[in-house]
Amino acid sequence: MPLKVIITGANSGIGKALAIEYAKQGAVLGLMARNQDALKIIQDKLPCEALIYSVDVTDLAQCRWAAEAFMAQHGTPDIVIANAGISSGTMTENFSDLDIFKKIIATNLVGAAHIFHPFIKPFKARGFGQLVGVSSVAGIRGLPGAGAYSASKSALTNYLESLRIELASDNIHVTTIAPGYIKSPMTDANDFTMPFLMPVDRAAQVMVKAIKNKKKFLIVPWQMNLIGRIMHVLPIFAWDWLAKKAPRKKRLPV
Ligand SMILES: NC(=O)c1ccc[n+]([C@@H]2O[C@H](COP(=O)([O-])OP(=O)(O)OC[C@H]3O[C@@H](n4cnc5c(N)ncnc54)[C@H](OP(=O)(O)O)[C@@H]3O)[C@@H](O)[C@H]2O)c1
Repeated sequence: MPLKVIITGANSGIGKALAIEYAKQGAVLGLMARNQDALKIIQDKLPCEALIYSVDVTDLAQCRWAAEAFMAQHGTPDIVIANAGISSGTMTENFSDLDIFKKIIATNLVGAAHIFHPFIKPFKARGFGQLVGVSSVAGIRGLPGAGAYSASKSALTNYLESLRIELASDNIHVTTIAPGYIKSPMTDANDFTMPFLMPVDRAAQVMVKAIKNKKKFLIVPWQMNLIGRIMHVLPIFAWDWLAKKAPRKKRLPV
């Protein structure tokens, strides 16, 4: 029986690399993103069955429609990966940044709940399933100049932890992935040096292995794991001193 995997944000960067990795394993894929043309290009290249759905994860009805369409053809999937995300610098004093703030939270946090929602009851009915959320090292501590992104990922990490505990007794596993810097169109927009920048195909291999092993929490690459764990325990004064020098994300159209 082939593995059945749903991936959001599957037409670019990490999501696309995950799709390629699962395709190598002969999985049946449900790929979602807003840009249908970009999804189609990937579908045509994959050596496996891949259904594509033009879905905006901020729209619950679209997520439910795509989930039902996939399940009507292939039944309940094994793994659902909430990977879709957007990033931009935001400054709270800028009026127009508040719309960007809402969009980042709606996509990175609420979007994950929207895509998990339609699969949880079917997972429970079948007796197993796995939910995966792609969060970020940026969610470990507050980053200056990226309040919305940092908050969205911090909230996503905690949301995934809540799910992990509440669904454990239903044999539903939850894996949180917190990447550091992975080469993708998202990081291509950064104009600063990114420590331990990892090729996306390598990152996807590490992620797929961790998902297979039902790891609860993964930071990639491993060097960032070390840094992330230090960030987590640093006292406030030390974090404030370090983070004020951190490079800031550019304000981007989202
Ligand atoms: N690259 C990194 O270093 C890094 C580090 C930490 C965390 N992450 C996280 O990893 C995830 C993937 O990032 P990436 O680097 O691969 O970025 P990317 O190349 O920009 O890909 C983002 C993906 O999300 C999709 N997307 C955005 N908004 C969406 C929406 N409203 N509905 C559905 N799909 C949407 C995009 O497709 P459409 O535009 O066609 O919708 C695209 O497929 C994100 O959650 C990001 O925050 C990345």
